[in-house]
Amino acid sequence: MTRYQHLANILAQRIEQGLYRSGEKLPSVRNLSQEHGVSISTVQQAYQQLEMLQLIVPQPRSGYFVAPRKAQPPVPSMSRPVQRPVEVTQWDQVLALLYGRGEKGLITLGSGSPDVSQASLKPLWREMNRVIQHNVIDVLNYDELYGRRELREQISRLMLDSGTRVGPDDIVITNGCHGALSAALLSVCKPGDIVAVESPSFHGTMQMLRGFGIKAIEIPTDASTGISVEALELALEQWPIKGVILVPDCNNPLGFIMPEARKKALLSLARRHDIVIFEDDIYGELATDYPRPRTIQSFDIDGRVLLCSSFTKTIAPGLRVGWIVPGRYLDRVLHMKYVVTGTTVPSTQMAVAAFIRDGHYHRHVRRMRQIYRRNMETMTCWVRQYFPCGICVTRPQGGFMLWVELPENVDMIAASQQLREMKIQVAPGSLFSAAGKYRNCLRLNCALVLGEPVRAAVKQIGEVLNGMLDQAPPLSTGSGVGGADE
Ligand SMILES: Cc1ncc(COP(=O)(O)O)c(C=O)c1O
Repeated sequence: MTRYQHLANILAQRIEQGLYRSGEKLPSVRNLSQEHGVSISTVQQAYQQLEMLQLIVPQPRSGYFVAPRKAQPPVPSMSRPVQRPVEVTQWDQVLALLYGRGEKGLITLGSGSPDVSQASLKPLWREMNRVIQHNVIDVLNYDELYGRRELREQISRLMLDSGTRVGPDDIVITNGCHGALSAALLSVCKPGDIVAVESPSFHGTMQMLRGFGIKAIEIPTDASTGISVEALELALEQWPIKGVILVPDCNNPLGFIMPEARKKALLSLARRHDIVIFEDDIYGELATDYPRPRTIQSFDIDGRVLLCSSFTKTIAPGLRVGWIVPGRYLDRVLHMKYVVTGTTVPSTQMAVAAFIRDGHYHRHVRRMRQIYRRNMETMTCWVRQYFPCGICVTRPQGGFMLWVELPENVDMIAASQQLREMKIQVAPGSLFSAAGKYRNCLRLNCALVLGEPVRAAVKQIGEVLNGMLDQAPPLSTGSGVGGADE
């Protein structure tokens, strides 16, 4: 963390704790620079950061004052999806979102990419060069089917923080979390089966269900505590459901961490109905608070949880290094990995193993947690400032996504097409529903470097949405995560 960010954090904490009260004058730039032994420009940068977060306001020729406290927008309430198995739709929209990747000048607020520009990743670049220079034979050869042992050893140590206690032989390296989830689904399900999903839920996994001919049943999900175990139980009594896919920690797109008691309740429900849990832990390490939450897998006693993850969000998506702890499905998962991808690429696995072994991974992730937390706060301020009134916004407990629910007469699909012409990409909420609900919602990626271009883009989104609302017939009712049942 840079000095100014460190100072901004100290000041933000003092404001949050009420040590500096609303309207109170803050210490002068000179005094702060002496108190903390930092330069004048460091203090100025810290104050600019706090101003961007709308925690303080400058008064010409008087200095900085604590901003009046604004009420936080409410959190979306429990979602109310269509509660019957459906074939997943929305592929065209997902394709449109993927289509923008790499386009110059596009502000990719709709993407799921982490920030890969931080200096804490430099040791990884060095390691990648070293691996290629010194291990030519290994790099050019087939990998073993399980994946590199040195990496599996590092992953088994990393997972101790989440309560998951497995050895290297219980882990299979995959091509990203996508590879882990697809091997898991193929190992358990066949075409025509039904799998339960959170609603809203990550579009990539739902497109896998569609591709494999599996139907999805969307389960009501709370923006703060996760999937409704009670609603899942009702669905299990009604339909022959094979399993449930969850992102219980730092959920994408809602950002919640499922409380431990609910994780345990869900696991015992799974045991009673003999279904499997596909646990996607891709964001779990990015929980704002430390220690990170425990995985559902850590409570599993009979191998029914297939734990999937990758270094995509914590390090970089281009590595394509993921893994699965398949529990009792180990043999089938190995077979499915072989069938779908064969072996995985050795070079990035070797570089990641060294990056973790030498302590760089922990340093990097610690830094990113802080950056993403601040970014989500900044984005929430901008959304509150520029978006129409009557919105609900999530309060993520980690990760880097913000989910915004707009008045029901906003059509984010139409808005996203308009915004695309302005070189702004957003992810409409309907991508995150098997049946295409949540048209009035959007997901914003807060891992972008939040400078002036992004602020201007958020302002433009607000203008488009306000314009849309001016023309739309008025609607009165609020709605839960994204509108009434269909
Ligand atoms: C919840 C979730 N699961 C899985 C994936 C896919 O991850 P990977 O890029 O490692 O295949 C993503 C990527 O956005 C995700 O958000």
